[in-house]
Amino acid sequence: MSPNFSFNSPPESVLKGSLRPDFHWGYATAATQIEGAWNVDGRGPSIWDTFARIPGKIKDGSTPYDACRSYDFYKEDVALMKSYGVRAYRFSLSWSRIIPLGGRDDPVNEKGIEFYSDLINELLKNDITPFVTLFHWDMPQALEDRYGGMLNQAAYTPDFLRYARLCFERFGDRVKHWITYNEPGVYTLAGYADGVHAPGRSSFRDRNEEGDSSTEPFIVAHTQLVTHARAAKIYREEFKPSQKGMIGITLHGNWSEPWDAEDEADIAAAERAREFEIAWFADPLYGRGEVEYPASMRAQLGDRLPRFTEEEKALMRGSSEFYGMNTYTSFFVRDKKTPPDINDHKGNVDVLDENKQGVSRGAESDTAWLRTSPWGFAKLLRWIWGRYHVPIYMTENGTTAKGETEPSEDILNDTHRIKFFREYLGELAKAVKEDGVDVRSYFAWTFADNWEWAAGYTDRFGLTFIDFNTPEKRRYPKHSATFLREFFGHLIRKD
Ligand code: NOJ
Repeated sequence: MSPNFSFNSPPESVLKGSLRPDFHWGYATAATQIEGAWNVDGRGPSIWDTFARIPGKIKDGSTPYDACRSYDFYKEDVALMKSYGVRAYRFSLSWSRIIPLGGRDDPVNEKGIEFYSDLINELLKNDITPFVTLFHWDMPQALEDRYGGMLNQAAYTPDFLRYARLCFERFGDRVKHWITYNEPGVYTLAGYADGVHAPGRSSFRDRNEEGDSSTEPFIVAHTQLVTHARAAKIYREEFKPSQKGMIGITLHGNWSEPWDAEDEADIAAAERAREFEIAWFADPLYGRGEVEYPASMRAQLGDRLPRFTEEEKALMRGSSEFYGMNTYTSFFVRDKKTPPDINDHKGNVDVLDENKQGVSRGAESDTAWLRTSPWGFAKLLRWIWGRYHVPIYMTENGTTAKGETEPSEDILNDTHRIKFFREYLGELAKAVKEDGVDVRSYFAWTFADNWEWAAGYTDRFGLTFIDFNTPEKRRYPKHSATFLREFFGHLIRKD
């Protein structure tokens, strides 16, 4: 039964046509999470292939080795996306598929290049605009082994730049939207502070053999910021004049709301939490005045936070031509009132599900950290626009839903997810229409259920249900895919 959606009454009726005619909308994915074929056609291993094998690291004990098998079925996936009405598709390249050992002097794997080239051609043939992420957390294992990956900025930089340059050379005639890094903050915090993602380093010896949560995250974050800017400089100077594309970075960020809206300390704590999470990366890139990390971070962390050299400062501003925004939820935060722990990365706050009055941050999903909170999304959009004033490209947003266990007609009618999109997109359209926030894209996370990192196959974010038990990973559209097509049809202004 195909669902029927109507947008003829408020609040949606008044939002008709509020998004620009050239608005890009579609789905986002990442190589590790969907491709499979981890050791096929010359691909080298990434740190996630190694990490997933360590007992206890992945919730369901799974690996990403076959995932959705998108490497094999990319044509079917493009056809399905076409039927979903998308205009754009955001995906990432697996570095170790393109350069198996990752380094500046290591051989290029032409088979890997060919795969992405074919995918790009298939998208363009179907009028779907590719948005390409260079790094979505899958560091080549060889670079981690050789010199510790991003902890060694000097060794890492030429390797990343060679990889970036190769991608611009081989795909830039057809790819006009580049994203250097996906969520550098999550790569940093989950991988080097909490140690629950690859490469699995932290100060906590019950969890990880090596690492230092009080210093390494800040080094790794700095490496990503600076190498983003260097890759962008190469693109802008050597490729952009002829290829005429754009380049930016995608940051994660959720909304932090004071636990007690009347308490000055909680109000300050919420702003501090936003700075630790978002402005950590966004201030050096888009801020005004001197290129520097937020003052609240410098005050708490001192020299554990690296300093930008004069040369790095000069590279930073203008290096990201848009604000790539991934967001999912909101939290209440309360000032801790005790001195910060050496391993604190949040601005010395408690993070809570309810505010002082007991109001919940939103309806639960199938993922503990994620609750539907469009109210916070509305505030976040305005906070980012107000602070940075650069065009916003929404590069990820979406949810899991409880009880998605099988592809029955009932379960495919994913009302929780539909409600999530309906409310978030309503807020997005309102921010554009009422406050002039400049939003130019929206990518739903994600095209199909996939390998959700440390959660394995247990967290289903897809608008397509995947039966992981079938050899071909059979795909079943959920009703939310129809909903998005129809809602964007309503929201986007016709030429
Ligand atoms: C952000 C990440 O970029 C993506 O890889 C992940 O699956 C989603 N968040 C959901 O957690």
